Amino acid sequence: MTNNNIAIVTGGSRGIGKAIATQLLKDGYQVYICSQNESELKKTTEELSKLGNIEYFVLDLTDRKAITKFISSWNKPIKALVNNAGIYLTERLDEDKDVWDKVLDVNLNGLYFLTKGLAKHIEDNGRIVNISSQLGKEGRASAGAYSASKFAVIGLTKCWAKELGDKGITVNAVCPGWVKTEMLLHDFEKMAKEQNKTWDEFEKEIAKPLELGRMTEPSEVADLVAFLVSDKAKAISGRDYLINTIWNRE
Ligand SMILES: NC(=O)c1ccc[n+]([C@@H]2O[C@H](COP(=O)([O-])OP(=O)(O)OC[C@H]3O[C@@H](n4cnc5c(N)ncnc54)[C@H](OP(=O)(O)O)[C@@H]3O)[C@@H](O)[C@H]2O)c1
Repeated sequence: MTNNNIAIVTGGSRGIGKAIATQLLKDGYQVYICSQNESELKKTTEELSKLGNIEYFVLDLTDRKAITKFISSWNKPIKALVNNAGIYLTERLDEDKDVWDKVLDVNLNGLYFLTKGLAKHIEDNGRIVNISSQLGKEGRASAGAYSASKFAVIGLTKCWAKELGDKGITVNAVCPGWVKTEMLLHDFEKMAKEQNKTWDEFEKEIAKPLELGRMTEPSEVADLVAFLVSDKAKAISGRDYLINTIWNRE
C-alpha cells in the first residue's frame, strides 16, 4: 500500500542501493533511483516496478553541473533522501593515480552538493540517511581515500543533524562491514587470485573477523535504513551505526 512519500536512493541501480529501494517500495514509498548507467537503471526499475511506484533518473554525482541542473528541475517534496552511491578504489590494487579525486568526487563531493541542493525540498520530519562504511570509523592500509571520504560522510551527518533538527528532519549514517555486492567482489576477487585462494576459501577467511563471522547481505543494510527513515526513528539523529564489522568497540 502506498504512503505517497517520496524517497530518493542514489546508486539504487544495484547492490545495497537496490536493496534499499526494494525495501522502501515494500514500505509504500514512491522511490526514485539514480546512477550513471541508464540501461542498468532501466532494468532495475522494470524489475522493481512490481513492488510499487519507482522511477529513475540518470545522474553522475561527479558532474557538478549535472547535479545543479537536476536540482533546479526537481519540484517535489522529499520524505527521505538516501545517499548510498559510492565507489571503492584502493591505492594498492588500482594503479590509477587519480584514486583520491575519483573517490572523493563520488563519495563526498557528490553527496554533499546533491544534499545541499535538495535540502529545501525535504519535508518537515523528513529523513536523510548517508551510507558510510566500517572504514568511516577505522582506517585500512591503502584505502586512505575511501576511508577519508567515509569519515567525512559521518562528519557531514552530524553537522546536518544539527542544521535540520529544528524541522524534525533526522540525519543518520549507516556503516556496514563487508556486504556482498559487486563493489566488494571487484576488489576481493582480485585479492583471492593474488593469494591463490578459491573464492569460498577467501570469503570464509575475510569474514572471520566480522562480528557474525559472515558477510552481510544487502537486504540487511536496507532493513536498518528502512528503520531510520520510519516514524519509529523520529528521535534518532546525528548517529552512525556499524553493521557486522571488524571493529566491535561500540
Ligand atoms: N559492499 C560493501 O562491502 C560496502 C561496505 C560498506 C559500505 N559500502 C557503501 O555502500 C554503498 C553502496 O555500495 P555497493 O556495495 O552497493 O556498491 P555497488 O554495487 O558498486 O553499487 C554502487 C552504486 O553507486 C552508483 N554510482 C557509482 N558511481 C556513481 C556516480 N559517479 N554517480 C552516480 N551513481 C554512482 C553505481 O551505479 P553506476 O556505476 O552506474 O553509476 C551503483 O548504483 C557505497 O557508498 C559503499 O561505499 C559498501
